[in-house]
Amino acid sequence: MFYFSYHSSAMERFASESEALAHTLAEVLAEKLERKSNFFKENCVRNTCYVRMNRYPPCPKPSEVYGLMPHTDSDFLTILYQDQVGGLQLIKDNRWVAVKPNPRALIINIGDLFQAWSNGMYKSVEHRVMTNPTMERFSTAYFLCPSYDAVIECSGDCPSYRNFSFREFRQQVQDDVKKLGYKVGLPRFSNHLY
Ligand code: OGA
Ligand code: NI
Repeated sequence: MFYFSYHSSAMERFASESEALAHTLAEVLAEKLERKSNFFKENCVRNTCYVRMNRYPPCPKPSEVYGLMPHTDSDFLTILYQDQVGGLQLIKDNRWVAVKPNPRALIINIGDLFQAWSNGMYKSVEHRVMTNPTMERFSTAYFLCPSYDAVIECSGDCPSYRNFSFREFRQQVQDDVKKLGYKVGLPRFSNHLY
């Protein structure tokens, strides 16, 4: 019981501090685009934002099993805290690079929705988690999401994506995962045929 209440309040703190930070970052990023920065206050309400705690058990065959498959996050932005074990990697210049654990740092990932909303000015970063042969790993992530009815409007004279609601996006991701086994993501909403 003691542990439960201790952890739940630590988690609540992580959630509320991340919420404030995520909104500040989103507003700054919106201002850089000269777009209305109150979009996030109005649309990213508590019921769809969430915290996920990831646990990666040790894996005897790390080269054969991912901790997390390569993916982009289906949100505006993600605030991630990883422990000392390491294993998170992201794509940079077409190569996977390790994100070195730093207990004093948070990792901020741009998600699909920010990429669409910014017309590709900000890129949703592809990332994955490798497993460790001997050590268990934990991470905690906060996902900044809009309400399901919120419409993601791509900015600019030549928008790369059509407008879509977060509900539509999530549904499409779920359908693709079910039918194809993987997420297609933003290309489904592209205005350009390719
Ligand atoms: C995620 C994620 C990375 C990690 O939860 O979407 O990418 O380090 N987690 O656990
Ligand atoms: Ni992720």
